[in-house]
Amino acid sequence: MTHRLGPIEAAPGLELLGPRGPEIAQLFTRPFLVLHRASGLYTARTCLLLLLDLGWEARLRTGTTLDALCAGLPDQARKPLAWMLPFLAGEGLLQVSNGTYRMEGEPDLDLVNLREATEIEVPGHGTNFDLLDGVRSHIQPFFTEGKAGEGLLFDLALFPLWLSYFRNENLGYFPNNLLTLLALRERLPAGARVLELGGGAGSFAQLLARQGAEQGWLGTIAEYRFTDIAPTFLRRAQRELKLAAPGLSLSFQSLDLNRPLGDQGIEAGSLDAIVGVNVLHVAQDLEATLRNLRTCLKPGGCLVVGECLKATLDTPLYLEFFFSFIKSFTEVRLDPHWRPRHGFLTPEAWEAALTHAGFQDLLSVPPPRPLMDQHPNFNAGAFSARA
Ligand SMILES: C[S@@+](CC[C@H](N)C(=O)[O-])C[C@H]1O[C@@H](n2cnc3c(N)ncnc32)[C@H](O)[C@@H]1O
Repeated sequence: MTHRLGPIEAAPGLELLGPRGPEIAQLFTRPFLVLHRASGLYTARTCLLLLLDLGWEARLRTGTTLDALCAGLPDQARKPLAWMLPFLAGEGLLQVSNGTYRMEGEPDLDLVNLREATEIEVPGHGTNFDLLDGVRSHIQPFFTEGKAGEGLLFDLALFPLWLSYFRNENLGYFPNNLLTLLALRERLPAGARVLELGGGAGSFAQLLARQGAEQGWLGTIAEYRFTDIAPTFLRRAQRELKLAAPGLSLSFQSLDLNRPLGDQGIEAGSLDAIVGVNVLHVAQDLEATLRNLRTCLKPGGCLVVGECLKATLDTPLYLEFFFSFIKSFTEVRLDPHWRPRHGFLTPEAWEAALTHAGFQDLLSVPPPRPLMDQHPNFNAGAFSARA
């Protein structure tokens, strides 16, 4: 069946994974590697199918530049298209020459085959593809009517798909949580007061409660404050985490990382750890947010950041497809040194941003180089840094 997916990347050797290698190596199972490959392919095909749905086949066959494609479209179309065209070229579905993108021949856009091949090796992960189908079927008014991506992608029809995507049972998402937990675990002092930013569907808190209980360190956490900006996520977490994360001393509050935390009831120097999985990239002003978070930590307290990572700033990551329609992802303040691009960053860019904001004693889980040079498709990691 593998031939339908093409070559599957080999798992990285233990020597590339650093001191927590044995735990990290468990992530690179055959099903994970197959899902990763299939998700990249499915995203690329969905992305081109979306352009065809929009009626742009003739333009793509003749050849079009980004500027030509954007002419007559709402301004907001530019950022996703600026991401999609090079992504599709990188995936071999468009040809590019001097900035002109062209569709040639009959590219393989079969989604059914891809789903079937994946289901055989990675059963029960159809949600990842359902979500991509959902984005394709909902997002057209973003281009045709200038409607906001948030409203189209987080409506009632798609919300359950997001919830099932952000779960530890999803092999495609789990590495984000596990790596963040490994980074947090070893820096927890006894009696720790921990705050989670953008806790969303609660999968990180669940993993922490489960592994903490199994491994006997859950008692080091005296208080776990679960926060998110979205009332829907907060209500759901309040309802479900008490059962799903037993043994964790939980409190809940609404918190916007783009506003000073001091104005939202978080005292300066009051926390031992602040943790966020796939959330800090939405900070409108990353430098200001990082500095603000640092003031909330006790001296020596830790910020732990789990993020999707790119091998280079110019490498489009298939996971960016969803997010390129969302303003909080694309409309952030840029700085050539501390925030060179919107969206996901390289490990080096995160390290520079954290250091610039005054954090020290940085630790990366796993050490990103040479891992990401040899496995450019490995795209998750966590950093912990002391205030
Ligand atoms: C990509 S999800 C990550 C979800 C979560 N960490 C998990 O693993 O299930 C991003 C989360 O950040 C939240 N978020 C977005 N903007 C935010 C902001 N300005 N302040 C705090 N949280 C925010 C969203 O509501 C969402 O729950």
